[in-house]
Amino acid sequence: MSEKFKIEPSSRISRLPPYLFARINKMKYDKRVAGVDIIDLGMGNPTDPTPKIVVDKLAEAALDPRNHRYSVHNGIAGLRKEAAKKYKKKYGVDLDPETEVIATIGSKEGFSHMCLALLGPGDTAIVPDPAFPAHVYAVAMAGASVIRVPLGNDQAFLDRIEHMIDGLYPTPKLLILNFPHNPTSMTIDDGKFWERAIDMCRKRGVMIISDFAYGEVCFDGYKAPSFLSAPGAKDLGVEFTTMSKTYNMAGWRVGFCCGNADMIKALGTIKGYYDYGHFAPIQIASVIAMRSCGDFAEEQAKIYAKRRDEVCKGLDRLGWTYDKPRASMFVWAKIKEEHLKGQSTLHFCLRMLDEAEIALAPGRAFGENGEAFVRIALVENEQRLRQAMRNLERALMPRKPKPKREKASVNGR
Ligand SMILES: Cc1ncc(COP(=O)(O)O)c(C=O)c1O
Repeated sequence: MSEKFKIEPSSRISRLPPYLFARINKMKYDKRVAGVDIIDLGMGNPTDPTPKIVVDKLAEAALDPRNHRYSVHNGIAGLRKEAAKKYKKKYGVDLDPETEVIATIGSKEGFSHMCLALLGPGDTAIVPDPAFPAHVYAVAMAGASVIRVPLGNDQAFLDRIEHMIDGLYPTPKLLILNFPHNPTSMTIDDGKFWERAIDMCRKRGVMIISDFAYGEVCFDGYKAPSFLSAPGAKDLGVEFTTMSKTYNMAGWRVGFCCGNADMIKALGTIKGYYDYGHFAPIQIASVIAMRSCGDFAEEQAKIYAKRRDEVCKGLDRLGWTYDKPRASMFVWAKIKEEHLKGQSTLHFCLRMLDEAEIALAPGRAFGENGEAFVRIALVENEQRLRQAMRNLERALMPRKPKPKREKASVNGR
Protein backbone atom coordinates (compact mmCIF):
# COMPACT_ATOMS: atom_id res chain seq x y z
CA MET A 1 0.00 0.00 0.00
CA SER A 2 1.33 3.45 -0.84
CA GLU A 3 2.02 5.92 1.94
CA LYS A 4 -0.71 8.53 2.56
CA PHE A 5 0.07 11.62 0.50
CA LYS A 6 0.65 14.52 2.86
CA ILE A 7 -1.14 17.77 2.05
CA GLU A 8 0.63 20.84 3.42
CA PRO A 9 -1.71 23.85 3.39
CA SER A 10 -0.04 27.25 3.21
CA SER A 11 1.20 29.02 6.32
CA ARG A 12 -1.64 31.46 5.67
CA ILE A 13 -4.05 28.84 6.97
CA SER A 14 -2.07 28.21 10.14
CA ARG A 15 -2.07 31.94 10.90
CA LEU A 16 -5.82 31.87 11.38
CA PRO A 17 -7.06 32.03 14.98
CA PRO A 18 -9.17 29.06 16.14
CA TYR A 19 -12.78 29.09 14.95
CA LEU A 20 -14.74 29.19 18.18
CA PHE A 21 -18.11 28.57 16.57
CA ALA A 22 -17.07 25.10 15.37
CA ARG A 23 -17.97 23.28 18.61
CA ILE A 24 -21.24 25.15 18.93
CA ASN A 25 -22.19 24.40 15.33
CA LYS A 26 -21.41 20.71 15.81
CA MET A 27 -23.54 20.47 18.95
CA LYS A 28 -26.35 22.43 17.26
CA TYR A 29 -26.26 20.02 14.35
CA ASP A 30 -26.27 16.92 16.59
CA LYS A 31 -29.21 18.26 18.62
CA ARG A 32 -31.22 19.00 15.51
CA VAL A 33 -30.53 15.57 14.08
CA ALA A 34 -31.81 14.18 17.38
CA GLY A 35 -35.05 16.14 16.83
CA VAL A 36 -34.48 18.96 19.35
CA ASP A 37 -36.04 22.31 18.38
CA ILE A 38 -33.05 24.61 18.84
CA ILE A 39 -33.88 28.34 18.79
CA ASP A 40 -30.91 29.71 16.88
CA LEU A 41 -29.92 33.22 17.93
CA GLY A 42 -26.26 32.59 17.19
CA MET A 43 -25.80 34.16 13.78
CA GLY A 44 -26.89 37.49 12.29
CA ASN A 45 -28.49 35.70 9.39
CA PRO A 46 -31.82 37.43 8.58
CA THR A 47 -34.76 35.02 8.45
CA ASP A 48 -37.30 37.44 6.95
CA PRO A 49 -37.83 37.34 3.18
CA THR A 50 -36.30 39.53 0.49
CA PRO A 51 -38.88 42.00 -0.96
CA LYS A 52 -41.06 40.21 -3.53
CA ILE A 53 -40.43 42.79 -6.24
CA VAL A 54 -36.71 41.95 -6.03
CA VAL A 55 -37.27 38.20 -6.26
CA ASP A 56 -39.63 38.75 -9.24
CA LYS A 57 -37.00 40.83 -11.02
CA LEU A 58 -34.41 38.11 -10.44
CA ALA A 59 -36.73 35.52 -11.97
CA GLU A 60 -37.49 37.73 -14.97
CA ALA A 61 -33.85 38.59 -15.60
CA ALA A 62 -32.81 34.95 -15.21
CA LEU A 63 -35.05 34.02 -18.15
CA ASP A 64 -33.10 36.28 -20.49
CA PRO A 65 -30.16 34.34 -21.99
CA ARG A 66 -28.23 37.57 -22.52
CA ASN A 67 -27.77 37.60 -18.74
CA HIS A 68 -26.22 34.14 -18.61
CA ARG A 69 -22.68 35.11 -19.61
CA TYR A 70 -19.79 36.11 -17.35
CA SER A 71 -20.44 39.47 -15.79
CA VAL A 72 -17.74 41.97 -14.76
CA HIS A 73 -15.58 41.85 -11.62
CA ASN A 74 -16.49 45.37 -10.42
CA GLY A 75 -20.27 45.15 -10.95
CA ILE A 76 -22.44 46.29 -13.87
CA ALA A 77 -22.56 50.06 -14.43
CA GLY A 78 -26.27 50.31 -13.52
CA LEU A 79 -25.64 48.76 -10.10
CA ARG A 80 -22.70 51.03 -9.30
CA LYS A 81 -24.72 54.08 -10.44
CA GLU A 82 -27.63 53.09 -8.20
CA ALA A 83 -25.32 52.66 -5.20
CA ALA A 84 -23.85 56.13 -5.84
CA LYS A 85 -27.34 57.63 -6.14
CA LYS A 86 -28.36 56.08 -2.85
CA TYR A 87 -25.31 57.53 -1.05
CA LYS A 88 -26.20 60.97 -2.43
CA LYS A 89 -29.84 60.70 -1.39
CA LYS A 90 -29.28 59.23 2.05
CA TYR A 91 -26.02 60.79 3.18
CA GLY A 92 -25.38 63.69 0.77
CA VAL A 93 -22.18 62.00 -0.45
CA ASP A 94 -21.00 62.49 -4.05
CA LEU A 95 -19.44 59.38 -5.58
CA ASP A 96 -18.17 58.72 -9.08
CA PRO A 97 -19.68 55.32 -9.97
CA GLU A 98 -16.77 54.63 -12.33
CA THR A 99 -13.90 55.13 -9.90
CA GLU A 100 -15.32 55.40 -6.39
CA VAL A 101 -17.78 52.49 -6.27
CA ILE A 102 -17.21 48.76 -6.67
CA ALA A 103 -19.73 45.95 -6.18
CA THR A 104 -18.54 43.04 -4.04
CA ILE A 105 -19.72 39.49 -3.45
CA GLY A 106 -21.09 40.47 -0.06
CA SER A 107 -19.17 42.99 1.98
CA LYS A 108 -17.18 40.18 3.63
CA GLU A 109 -15.59 39.17 0.33
CA GLY A 110 -14.89 42.79 -0.52
CA PHE A 111 -13.41 43.51 2.89
CA SER A 112 -11.20 40.42 2.81
CA HIS A 113 -9.87 41.17 -0.65
CA MET A 114 -9.37 44.81 0.28
CA CYS A 115 -7.08 43.64 3.09
CA LEU A 116 -5.20 41.53 0.58
CA ALA A 117 -4.95 44.54 -1.71
CA LEU A 118 -3.65 46.90 0.98
CA LEU A 119 -1.68 44.75 3.42
CA GLY A 120 1.16 42.27 3.40
CA PRO A 121 3.83 40.84 5.69
CA GLY A 122 5.31 43.53 7.92
CA ASP A 123 2.15 45.65 7.82
CA THR A 124 -0.16 46.22 10.76
CA ALA A 125 -3.85 46.99 11.06
CA ILE A 126 -5.67 48.22 14.16
CA VAL A 127 -8.88 46.38 14.99
CA PRO A 128 -11.04 47.07 18.06
CA ASP A 129 -11.70 44.32 20.59
CA PRO A 130 -14.35 42.89 20.39
CA ALA A 131 -14.88 42.88 16.63
CA PHE A 132 -16.58 41.01 13.79
CA PRO A 133 -14.18 38.04 13.31
CA ALA A 134 -13.54 38.73 9.60
CA HIS A 135 -11.92 42.02 10.59
CA VAL A 136 -9.20 39.97 12.24
CA TYR A 137 -9.04 36.93 9.90
CA ALA A 138 -8.79 38.98 6.70
CA VAL A 139 -5.82 40.92 8.01
CA ALA A 140 -4.15 37.72 9.19
CA MET A 141 -4.75 36.01 5.84
CA ALA A 142 -3.16 38.94 4.05
CA GLY A 143 -0.03 38.15 6.08
CA ALA A 144 -0.22 41.32 8.16
CA SER A 145 -0.41 41.73 11.95
CA VAL A 146 -3.44 42.72 13.96
CA ILE A 147 -3.22 45.08 16.93
CA ARG A 148 -6.31 45.05 19.13
CA VAL A 149 -7.53 48.15 20.94
CA PRO A 150 -10.38 47.96 23.48
CA LEU A 151 -13.55 49.13 21.73
CA GLY A 152 -15.20 52.45 22.45
CA ASN A 153 -17.11 55.18 20.64
CA ASP A 154 -15.70 58.34 22.19
CA GLN A 155 -12.62 60.52 22.43
CA ALA A 156 -11.03 58.14 24.94
CA PHE A 157 -11.26 55.35 22.33
CA LEU A 158 -9.64 57.55 19.68
CA ASP A 159 -6.97 58.53 22.22
CA ARG A 160 -6.22 54.84 22.82
CA ILE A 161 -5.83 54.30 19.07
CA GLU A 162 -3.66 57.39 18.72
CA HIS A 163 -1.44 56.22 21.55
CA MET A 164 -1.11 52.80 19.92
CA ILE A 165 -0.29 54.25 16.49
CA ASP A 166 2.33 56.58 17.94
CA GLY A 167 3.98 53.78 19.88
CA LEU A 168 4.40 51.42 16.92
CA TYR A 169 7.08 51.26 14.29
CA PRO A 170 6.47 50.91 11.42
CA THR A 171 3.29 52.96 11.74
CA PRO A 172 0.12 50.86 11.28
CA LYS A 173 -1.27 51.19 7.78
CA LEU A 174 -4.93 50.68 8.42
CA LEU A 175 -7.63 51.36 11.02
CA ILE A 176 -10.76 49.19 10.80
CA LEU A 177 -13.92 50.60 12.38
CA ASN A 178 -17.50 49.40 12.43
CA PHE A 179 -20.44 51.48 13.72
CA PRO A 180 -23.20 50.35 14.33
CA HIS A 181 -21.01 47.65 15.76
CA ASN A 182 -21.14 43.89 15.58
CA PRO A 183 -21.20 42.26 18.14
CA THR A 184 -21.89 45.02 20.70
CA SER A 185 -24.43 47.18 18.77
CA MET A 186 -22.38 50.20 19.87
CA THR A 187 -23.13 53.35 17.88
CA ILE A 188 -21.60 56.79 17.50
CA ASP A 189 -23.69 59.89 18.16
CA ASP A 190 -22.82 61.98 15.13
CA GLY A 191 -20.32 62.61 12.35
CA LYS A 192 -17.93 64.42 14.74
CA PHE A 193 -16.46 61.02 15.68
CA TRP A 194 -15.54 60.42 12.07
CA GLU A 195 -14.08 63.92 11.70
CA ARG A 196 -11.80 63.31 14.68
CA ALA A 197 -10.80 59.84 13.43
CA ILE A 198 -10.00 61.23 9.96
CA ASP A 199 -7.95 64.08 11.41
CA MET A 200 -5.94 61.67 13.58
CA CYS A 201 -5.32 59.21 10.73
CA ARG A 202 -4.49 61.85 8.14
CA LYS A 203 -1.69 63.26 10.34
CA ARG A 204 -0.20 59.79 10.70
CA GLY A 205 -0.70 58.43 7.19
CA VAL A 206 -3.16 55.71 8.29
CA MET A 207 -5.97 54.51 5.99
CA ILE A 208 -9.48 53.87 7.34
CA ILE A 209 -12.00 51.18 6.46
CA SER A 210 -15.50 51.74 7.78
CA ASP A 211 -17.70 48.64 7.86
CA PHE A 212 -21.23 50.09 7.67
CA ALA A 213 -23.10 46.77 7.41
CA TYR A 214 -25.78 47.91 9.88
CA GLY A 215 -25.96 51.51 8.66
CA GLU A 216 -29.63 51.13 7.77
CA VAL A 217 -30.71 48.91 10.65
CA CYS A 218 -31.49 51.77 13.05
CA PHE A 219 -34.45 52.34 15.34
CA ASP A 220 -35.86 54.74 17.96
CA GLY A 221 -35.22 57.62 15.54
CA TYR A 222 -31.46 57.02 15.44
CA LYS A 223 -29.65 57.62 12.14
CA ALA A 224 -26.18 56.13 11.85
CA PRO A 225 -23.66 58.58 10.37
CA SER A 226 -21.78 57.38 7.31
CA PHE A 227 -17.98 57.70 7.40
CA LEU A 228 -18.08 59.02 3.83
CA SER A 229 -20.20 62.01 4.81
CA ALA A 230 -17.36 63.36 6.98
CA PRO A 231 -15.13 65.91 5.19
CA GLY A 232 -11.93 64.37 3.85
CA ALA A 233 -13.12 60.75 4.26
CA LYS A 234 -12.47 59.94 0.62
CA ASP A 235 -8.86 61.14 0.94
CA LEU A 236 -7.89 58.21 3.11
CA GLY A 237 -10.64 55.64 3.32
CA VAL A 238 -13.51 53.55 2.07
CA GLU A 239 -16.80 52.32 3.46
CA PHE A 240 -18.39 48.89 2.99
CA THR A 241 -22.17 48.49 2.81
CA THR A 242 -24.27 45.42 2.17
CA MET A 243 -27.68 44.42 0.83
CA SER A 244 -27.64 41.47 3.29
CA LYS A 245 -29.19 43.25 6.25
CA THR A 246 -30.86 46.24 4.60
CA TYR A 247 -33.02 44.19 2.22
CA ASN A 248 -32.85 40.71 3.82
CA MET A 249 -30.62 39.58 0.97
CA ALA A 250 -27.89 37.76 2.91
CA GLY A 251 -27.84 34.76 0.57
CA TRP A 252 -27.61 36.95 -2.52
CA ARG A 253 -24.13 38.16 -1.57
CA VAL A 254 -24.25 41.75 -2.75
CA GLY A 255 -22.21 44.48 -1.12
CA PHE A 256 -20.37 47.64 -2.06
CA CYS A 257 -17.12 49.37 -1.34
CA CYS A 258 -17.18 53.13 -1.88
CA GLY A 259 -14.78 55.99 -1.34
CA ASN A 260 -11.08 56.50 -2.09
CA ALA A 261 -10.46 55.82 -5.79
CA ASP A 262 -6.95 54.40 -5.27
CA MET A 263 -8.17 51.92 -2.68
CA ILE A 264 -11.10 50.95 -4.92
CA LYS A 265 -8.69 50.49 -7.82
CA ALA A 266 -6.46 48.22 -5.71
CA LEU A 267 -9.49 46.11 -4.72
CA GLY A 268 -10.63 46.03 -8.35
CA THR A 269 -7.22 44.73 -9.43
CA ILE A 270 -7.39 41.84 -6.96
CA LYS A 271 -10.98 41.06 -7.91
CA GLY A 272 -10.14 41.17 -11.59
CA TYR A 273 -7.78 38.25 -11.01
CA TYR A 274 -10.07 36.33 -8.66
CA ASP A 275 -13.65 36.65 -9.92
CA TYR A 276 -16.02 37.60 -12.71
CA GLY A 277 -18.61 39.29 -10.51
CA HIS A 278 -22.14 38.20 -9.73
CA PHE A 279 -24.63 36.46 -11.92
CA ALA A 280 -26.07 39.47 -13.83
CA PRO A 281 -29.74 38.83 -12.79
CA ILE A 282 -28.69 39.22 -9.14
CA GLN A 283 -27.18 42.59 -9.97
CA ILE A 284 -30.23 43.67 -11.97
CA ALA A 285 -32.56 42.68 -9.11
CA SER A 286 -30.30 44.52 -6.65
CA VAL A 287 -30.80 47.72 -8.65
CA ILE A 288 -34.55 47.28 -8.18
CA ALA A 289 -34.10 46.78 -4.43
CA MET A 290 -32.29 50.10 -4.08
CA ARG A 291 -34.55 51.94 -6.50
CA SER A 292 -37.95 50.66 -5.43
CA CYS A 293 -37.75 49.54 -1.81
CA GLY A 294 -37.18 52.93 -0.23
CA ASP A 295 -38.79 52.35 3.17
CA PHE A 296 -38.22 48.59 3.39
CA ALA A 297 -35.18 48.94 5.66
CA GLU A 298 -37.08 51.22 8.02
CA GLU A 299 -39.98 48.79 8.28
CA GLN A 300 -37.61 45.86 8.84
CA ALA A 301 -35.78 47.86 11.52
CA LYS A 302 -39.09 48.36 13.36
CA ILE A 303 -39.43 44.59 13.48
CA TYR A 304 -35.94 44.31 14.98
CA ALA A 305 -36.81 46.99 17.56
CA LYS A 306 -39.83 44.99 18.76
CA ARG A 307 -37.71 41.84 18.98
CA ARG A 308 -35.06 43.75 20.89
CA ASP A 309 -37.72 44.80 23.42
CA GLU A 310 -38.75 41.19 23.89
CA VAL A 311 -35.15 40.09 24.51
CA CYS A 312 -34.48 43.00 26.86
CA LYS A 313 -37.54 42.09 28.95
CA GLY A 314 -36.17 38.57 29.32
CA LEU A 315 -32.70 39.88 30.21
CA ASP A 316 -34.21 42.09 32.91
CA ARG A 317 -35.86 39.05 34.45
CA LEU A 318 -32.51 37.23 34.39
CA GLY A 319 -30.80 40.23 35.96
CA TRP A 320 -28.22 40.52 33.16
CA THR A 321 -26.85 43.92 32.15
CA TYR A 322 -26.85 45.36 28.64
CA ASP A 323 -26.99 48.65 26.73
CA LYS A 324 -30.32 48.82 24.94
CA PRO A 325 -29.30 48.93 21.27
CA ARG A 326 -30.59 51.61 18.90
CA ALA A 327 -29.18 49.90 15.81
CA SER A 328 -27.96 46.54 14.42
CA MET A 329 -29.70 43.19 14.90
CA PHE A 330 -28.03 42.12 18.14
CA VAL A 331 -28.28 42.51 21.87
CA TRP A 332 -24.94 42.22 23.66
CA ALA A 333 -25.51 41.14 27.22
CA LYS A 334 -23.27 40.52 30.20
CA ILE A 335 -23.95 37.17 31.81
CA LYS A 336 -24.66 37.38 35.52
CA GLU A 337 -21.78 35.81 37.46
CA GLU A 338 -24.00 33.33 39.28
CA HIS A 339 -25.23 32.12 35.87
CA LEU A 340 -21.81 31.98 34.24
CA LYS A 341 -20.47 29.97 37.18
CA GLY A 342 -16.86 30.75 36.27
CA GLN A 343 -17.19 29.11 32.84
CA SER A 344 -15.82 30.56 29.62
CA THR A 345 -18.51 32.01 27.37
CA LEU A 346 -17.89 29.16 24.94
CA HIS A 347 -18.70 26.58 27.61
CA PHE A 348 -21.63 28.65 28.82
CA CYS A 349 -23.07 28.70 25.28
CA LEU A 350 -22.58 24.93 24.95
CA ARG A 351 -24.39 24.52 28.29
CA MET A 352 -27.28 26.71 27.10
CA LEU A 353 -27.56 24.69 23.89
CA ASP A 354 -27.89 21.62 26.04
CA GLU A 355 -30.04 22.91 28.89
CA ALA A 356 -32.05 25.75 27.32
CA GLU A 357 -32.08 24.58 23.70
CA ILE A 358 -30.98 27.94 22.42
CA ALA A 359 -27.92 28.90 20.41
CA LEU A 360 -26.10 32.09 21.39
CA ALA A 361 -22.81 33.54 20.18
CA PRO A 362 -20.07 33.44 22.86
CA GLY A 363 -18.53 36.85 23.46
CA ARG A 364 -15.02 35.37 23.38
CA ALA A 365 -15.44 34.57 19.68
CA PHE A 366 -15.16 38.32 19.03
CA GLY A 367 -12.06 38.95 21.13
CA GLU A 368 -10.73 38.83 24.67
CA ASN A 369 -12.92 41.74 25.72
CA GLY A 370 -15.98 39.73 24.77
CA GLU A 371 -15.44 37.28 27.63
CA ALA A 372 -18.44 37.28 30.05
CA PHE A 373 -20.79 38.47 27.28
CA VAL A 374 -23.07 36.77 24.80
CA ARG A 375 -24.46 38.12 21.56
CA ILE A 376 -28.14 37.49 20.95
CA ALA A 377 -29.20 37.84 17.30
CA LEU A 378 -32.74 39.14 16.72
CA VAL A 379 -33.39 36.72 13.90
CA GLU A 380 -36.41 34.85 15.25
CA ASN A 381 -39.93 36.24 15.60
CA GLU A 382 -41.14 37.75 18.87
CA GLN A 383 -42.92 34.60 19.98
CA ARG A 384 -39.81 32.44 19.47
CA LEU A 385 -37.66 35.04 21.21
CA ARG A 386 -40.07 35.04 24.18
CA GLN A 387 -39.76 31.27 24.25
CA ALA A 388 -35.96 31.51 24.07
CA MET A 389 -35.83 33.87 27.02
CA ARG A 390 -38.19 31.61 28.98
CA ASN A 391 -35.92 28.66 28.19
CA LEU A 392 -32.95 30.58 29.56
CA GLU A 393 -34.87 31.43 32.73
CA ARG A 394 -35.91 27.83 33.15
CA ALA A 395 -32.30 26.65 32.78
CA LEU A 396 -30.68 29.34 34.88
CA MET A 397 -33.28 30.17 37.51
CA PRO A 398 -35.07 26.91 38.16
CA ARG A 399 -38.09 27.42 40.41
CA LYS A 400 -37.62 25.96 43.85
CA PRO A 401 -40.15 23.19 44.39
CA LYS A 402 -43.06 24.41 46.54
CA PRO A 403 -42.84 23.03 50.07
CA LYS A 404 -45.38 20.23 50.49
CA ARG A 405 -48.28 21.13 52.74
CA GLU A 406 -48.35 18.83 55.72
CA LYS A 407 -51.55 16.93 56.08
CA ALA A 408 -53.48 17.79 59.24
CA SER A 409 -53.07 14.98 61.69
CA VAL A 410 -56.07 13.03 62.81
CA ASN A 411 -56.13 14.50 66.24
CA GLY A 412 -55.78 18.04 64.89
CA ARG A 413 -52.18 18.62 65.97
C1 LIG B 1 -20.01 43.91 10.72
C2 LIG B 1 -20.30 43.03 9.58
N1 LIG B 1 -19.68 43.24 8.42
C3 LIG B 1 -19.90 42.45 7.35
C4 LIG B 1 -20.78 41.39 7.43
C5 LIG B 1 -20.94 40.52 6.22
O1 LIG B 1 -21.90 41.01 5.40
P1 LIG B 1 -22.09 40.43 3.92
O2 LIG B 1 -23.28 39.55 3.98
O3 LIG B 1 -22.32 41.64 3.09
O4 LIG B 1 -20.86 39.72 3.54
C6 LIG B 1 -21.44 41.12 8.60
C7 LIG B 1 -22.33 39.96 8.68
O5 LIG B 1 -22.77 39.51 9.66
C8 LIG B 1 -21.19 41.96 9.71
O6 LIG B 1 -21.78 41.74 10.88
